[in-house]
Amino acid sequence: MTPFPKPITDVIRERSSWRSYDGRPLEAADRARLEEFLAGFGAGPFGGRVRLQLVEASAEDRAELRKLGTYGAVKGARTFLAGAVRQAPMDTEDYGYLLEEAILFATALGLGTCWLGASFNRSGFASKVDLKQGESLPAVSPVGYVAARRTVVDATTRLFARAKKRKPWEELFFEGDFTTPLLPARAGAYEDALEMVRLAPSASNRQPWRLLKEAGGDVFHLFISRTAFYSGVVAKRPGGDLQRLDMGIAACHFALTAREAGLAGEWEVGEPPAVELPARTTYVASWRAP
Ligand SMILES: Cc1cc2nc3c(=O)[nH]c(=O)nc-3n(C[C@H](O)[C@H](O)[C@H](O)COP(=O)(O)O)c2cc1C
Repeated sequence: MTPFPKPITDVIRERSSWRSYDGRPLEAADRARLEEFLAGFGAGPFGGRVRLQLVEASAEDRAELRKLGTYGAVKGARTFLAGAVRQAPMDTEDYGYLLEEAILFATALGLGTCWLGASFNRSGFASKVDLKQGESLPAVSPVGYVAARRTVVDATTRLFARAKKRKPWEELFFEGDFTTPLLPARAGAYEDALEMVRLAPSASNRQPWRLLKEAGGDVFHLFISRTAFYSGVVAKRPGGDLQRLDMGIAACHFALTAREAGLAGEWEVGEPPAVELPARTTYVASWRAP
């Protein structure tokens, strides 16, 4: 049974990145529901050991947070979702999956959130979550009551990232090979799951997820279409590859939507299909029905 208080497709459509908060602390009921949800998390879909918690910014932190902690990206936030993942081959994807699940749950409670993979003070958060040797802290998100209006920084960031825009189906989803687009009419029972991937947030809204459906079967292979900008030095730091977080987010939207529609299946890292790949595109994982 889904713990979400409303359909996941509604929640995904409602979510947008909020960088402006009204400064009120979380109400006890909201805090309790979030903490209960986080406590129920097990391993990520790829077996990664992720822990997530609520982190409070003290008054002193908040002064620093304005300057440093979110590099001015976020205003008025008091509470953050933050955590750590034990370093492993699919650690970043697992962290992306579970932090997105927490973000969607917060959205369902009416709270604002914003993925921060770059604009946050990593060392400040590392001490708050007591980051251990062999763990990484890929991203955080503020969680709270949104301000009546977006700040100028918030509105400008959204404008710059063309935050409401998404690529059309034919650039993202394929059937059989990467020259045959998969359109909604041929997606069958998976139409909503694919549409929910399309609406997912991604770093700088680059939308690097690609899905290839096997011809004649409900097997979907997830690929990453890398943006050169994100493959540099930062991406080499443990947990620093933001486009791998995007893969986890896509896997989360797909799985939650499929399960809610009664479609059984799991993500697994299997054999990449033998197809010709577009430039800078590599295999990540596959969704298979049992
Ligand atoms: C992995 C990841 C990292 C992100 N890092 C930042 C960040 O450091 N700072 C920021 O302001 N927004 C960040 N974002 C938010 C994206 O810019 C935003 O999701 C995208 O523009 C789409 O807008 P939307 O979330 O409102 O749909 C990040 C998003 C993702 C998925």
